Formats: sequence, structure tokens, C-alpha cells
Amino acid sequence: MRLDKFLTETGVGTRSEVKKLIKSGAVTVNGARAGKPELKIDENADVVCCCGQTIAYQAYEYYLFHKPAGCVTATEDGLHRTVMDYLTQTARKDLFPVGRLDLDTEGLLLITNDGALAHRLLSPAHHVPKTYFAKIAGCVTEEDKELFAQGIEIGDDKPARPASLVILKAGEESEVTLTITEGRFHQVKRMFEAVGKKVLYLKRLSMAGLVLPEELLPGEYRALTAEELDMLGRI
Ligand code: URA
Repeated sequence: MRLDKFLTETGVGTRSEVKKLIKSGAVTVNGARAGKPELKIDENADVVCCCGQTIAYQAYEYYLFHKPAGCVTATEDGLHRTVMDYLTQTARKDLFPVGRLDLDTEGLLLITNDGALAHRLLSPAHHVPKTYFAKIAGCVTEEDKELFAQGIEIGDDKPARPASLVILKAGEESEVTLTITEGRFHQVKRMFEAVGKKVLYLKRLSMAGLVLPEELLPGEYRALTAEELDMLGRI
């Protein structure tokens, strides 16, 4: 990796700031002054210091984000704020959201640059569980629960996989949690449409054992803990 890229990714400064630092002699690689921004370094083995401080390198970063409604799950968008716009404390340019939540959906979203993990979590073969809290227009019934448990037809080639519906409140407006093990387009909304009901509010509470912490407010994020990473490593 180029030295200037390394220093940018580790948050030392912008590309032009780190170039200036390198040219000023503030940066050493394995104890020797590095004068060129394009110097190639081994980010996993070389010891890089800036102004006397060792710069630690982390190949992968993992963040648990509480997505608010009104932002799109994408890295770029011409119209709306994206989930990446909230990650202000990291300089990494290669981060991306794992999976997708709709514009109006809130809740847990994993953001990382670990492509292999993302692939495992999103692979249809892995049946990774995701639990949502939803407010539904209309009375959710035991029959809906049974239909979801059997695997309901939602207009795709195959019916949805069996899903677990818990009715928290049944009435004119119902409240439920729903655990699904797939990630089809608008899946929760389409499952309720299939029983003639409309999702009014949707929030993802958990995914692959990661749970949205109560203290993490919409728009906030934090790095995954060692325990959370360990758990994901076993998927
Ligand atoms: N299902 C949906 O319908 N929307 C989401 O954002 C997530 C799951």
C-alpha cells in the first residue's frame, strides 16, 4: 500500500495533509525517515510513525449503525442522505452497508469493509436470522402467524421461508416482531401485504445475533465489540 494512502485510511489526515507531513519529514517507516508519499509499505509488517507516534493499522473495520428513517442504504445517492454520511469518525473509503433497509425502515445495519463476512451474512444458503419490530394497520391474527410459519407466497418463484411472528398487540393497529431468515426485496412489507395488511412502521432489532443496543440512538454508530466480532466469525 502507498504510504499516503495508509496515512489517509488510518485517519492521520487528508491526502494533501499527509503528503505535506511526509515531505516535512514527520513520517518514519521502520525508523527511517520517509520522504515520498508514493513509498510502498507493508501495512501489516512495517512500523509507521508520524510525529513520533506509531500508527496502528486495522485491515477491517466493523460498525453497528442505528439507521434512521429517511436515509438510503447505499454508498452514494444523488437525492437523499446515505447511511455512509453518518460515519464521520472514520476515514476509510471502502466501507459499505451489509444488506439493505428501505428508506423508511429504521434499525440495525452493519457497516464494514470485510467483503467475505458480508458475503456470508447475505448468502441465501446461510439463512441468517433477522428480527424486525413492526406496527401494522389492521388486526394481526393467529392465522397470519400460522401462514408465516408455513412459508407464505409473496409473488416470487418460491414462497418465503418459514418465519416466526410474535403478536405483541392485536387491534386496529397491531404490533409484532417478525423473524425471517432471508433478505428478499421489501420482504416484511410483502409478507404482510400477502395477508392483506400494511406495514406502518418497521425497525430491525437484530441480525445474525447482533442486537441493536437501546442506548444507540437513530443516526448513531459504534464499533463492534470483540464478543460481537467473535460471534460473527462463527457464521
Ligand atoms: N423488509 C422490508 O420490507 N423492508 C426492509 O427495509 C427490511 C425488510
